Amino acid sequence: MPPNFFPAYSVFLMIMLIPVPRVVCQDNHLFVSCGAQYECGNMAISYPFWGGSRPNYCGHPGFELTCDGEAPEFTMNEVSYRILDINNSSHTLTVARADYWDSYCPPQYFNTTLNESLFSYNATYTDVGLYYYCPQFTIASSNQFNCPNTTGYYTTLDLNLSVSTGNCGVYVTVPIFKSAATAIVSGGGTLTLLTDALNGGFGLEWNANNSLCRECIESGGHCGSISNQFTCYCRNGLSPSTCRKSGPYVSRKIIIGMVVLIVSFVMLGCIGIKRYSLAVKTWVFWKKESEDDENVEAFIRNYGSLAPKRYNYSDVKKMTNSFTSELGQGGFGCVYEGKLPDGRMVAVKLLSNSKGNGQDFINEIASISRTSHINIVTFMGFCFERSRRALIYEFMPNGSLDKFIYNRGSSDESLNLEWKTMYQIAVGIARGLEYLYRGCNTRILHFDIKPHNILLDQNFIPKISDFGLAKLCQKTESMVSMTHARGTTGYIAPEVFCRNFGGVSHKSDVYSYGMLVFEMVGGRKNIDVQVSHSSQIHFPTWIYKQLHLGKDLTVLRSITNEEEEETARKMILVSLWCIQPNPSDRPSIDKVVEMLEGSSHLLEIPLNPFMFSPQNTPQDPSTASP
Ligand SMILES: *[C@@H]1O[C@H](CO)[C@@H](O)[C@H](O)[C@H]1NC(C)=O
Repeated sequence: MPPNFFPAYSVFLMIMLIPVPRVVCQDNHLFVSCGAQYECGNMAISYPFWGGSRPNYCGHPGFELTCDGEAPEFTMNEVSYRILDINNSSHTLTVARADYWDSYCPPQYFNTTLNESLFSYNATYTDVGLYYYCPQFTIASSNQFNCPNTTGYYTTLDLNLSVSTGNCGVYVTVPIFKSAATAIVSGGGTLTLLTDALNGGFGLEWNANNSLCRECIESGGHCGSISNQFTCYCRNGLSPSTCRKSGPYVSRKIIIGMVVLIVSFVMLGCIGIKRYSLAVKTWVFWKKESEDDENVEAFIRNYGSLAPKRYNYSDVKKMTNSFTSELGQGGFGCVYEGKLPDGRMVAVKLLSNSKGNGQDFINEIASISRTSHINIVTFMGFCFERSRRALIYEFMPNGSLDKFIYNRGSSDESLNLEWKTMYQIAVGIARGLEYLYRGCNTRILHFDIKPHNILLDQNFIPKISDFGLAKLCQKTESMVSMTHARGTTGYIAPEVFCRNFGGVSHKSDVYSYGMLVFEMVGGRKNIDVQVSHSSQIHFPTWIYKQLHLGKDLTVLRSITNEEEEETARKMILVSLWCIQPNPSDRPSIDKVVEMLEGSSHLLEIPLNPFMFSPQNTPQDPSTASP
């Protein structure tokens, strides 16, 4: 084992523990959707506001808009505010209370109470006081207005009522501009001026990570938030602050550039300058026209009879009823429910309409059209019309496994899987992976095994899906060369991430599989483990200790009998073996199936793979050098 193996692994574990917001649709899809503005009346509004066609991840919580046909409104503490004007550079807006629009008699009485962490008043406001259900007043009739059930009175700071208002049944304060208050006073307090003042509204400044958003926009991004975390959507991915200039998109271009250079030199040598310049011209034209489109087309042509059915975009649109029913969002696009002309239900994955996903598209078709196994999702066709790309699969009524892991313990009973079912799912996924490695001439490494990519049919039979990152290799190849890390944080094997850990191979999928099974077992860590302050206990370390001390697992609250205990023990032991940092310590996937199907008493307890979790390394993380 290399000497720098363990420090590197502890850094790896730390990186894994950094919470990464779950990415919904493909990056570019997010970038595009958050670039759209909310339109209502003659206004177009962007971050921090969201609503309508702007999904919540394009805005900030608390800034949802609705449109009453004329103007956009937001609601806070039961009062709706109509947006009259907005200034993005100063983060200010002018709003008026919707219930006092052209009226003094709202159906219900509320004060103006804005959430102070989101909004602050600017200096130019003052309150108008509105009184209802008062004892008889002796004041100027100009301060009086009539409501269906009562007479109302109003004051501004400068225009006090001559009688105490303390006895009035209802008192409401509504902010207005100071200039409007002055106009009321100097105009002698006519109702027209009051209406003008209320309709004129007041000024507010919003506070929603303003400076972060400014930086994001300046770097070419669109602002938004995912689970309350500010997020900057960039052309080529997400960022917590600003769009970096380099990224996978650029590096891919550099690679293409280098390949072109090399090919050019070879051509120069072989066919002479004259033909070469012609070839370059053709190439430039081709590049402008289609970038990676041509690759995909060529791939489909070469695929011949193996190529699955091809659909037009209009077919896909018809199939999904114009993308009305969204089933979910995967790593590379949104998934919609659809129906084939023969009535069969399908799931249609619409890939983000960006260039550069050609390789993912090829990976997906190349991998999945070769497979036929109960634990691999059935591929039914595809659509490829320039940037419009879709993949069509069999429909999975129970959706993806993550739903059952992360919502477990919720009141919705249907989301709580029995141990028996969890075990069957674990075995099914292992069988699917075994098939990918052994079942066909070409070995397929998936590289993105995680709960979101495991679909469940009506009988909870798991099906591996999403082959966008897959790699096909000859069966004789035991190690795979890769240009960049692929996978999802939390499931990537350390060797994919950092070469110090060994070569990348099918054992890398075994690692991801182990993480997945461990999550299935531990999904309810904070609810099910009967330990006080359980949230502070590092679940993996805790469970490892239980096993090591020979304790039984009935402390996992959902375990009710011996059989379930045995199942849980097997799943935990197998997953601990699979997530060993050193690939050669991990079992092969056929061995995993064997381990799961045998008795847990035959299984030894592996080394603690979490030895370097933050729980056990209390020192300053900076001392752990890579
Ligand atoms: C509005 O606030 C004032 C105090 O600032 C209070 O006296 C009044 O009852 C409140 N009105 C309503 C409708 O809650």
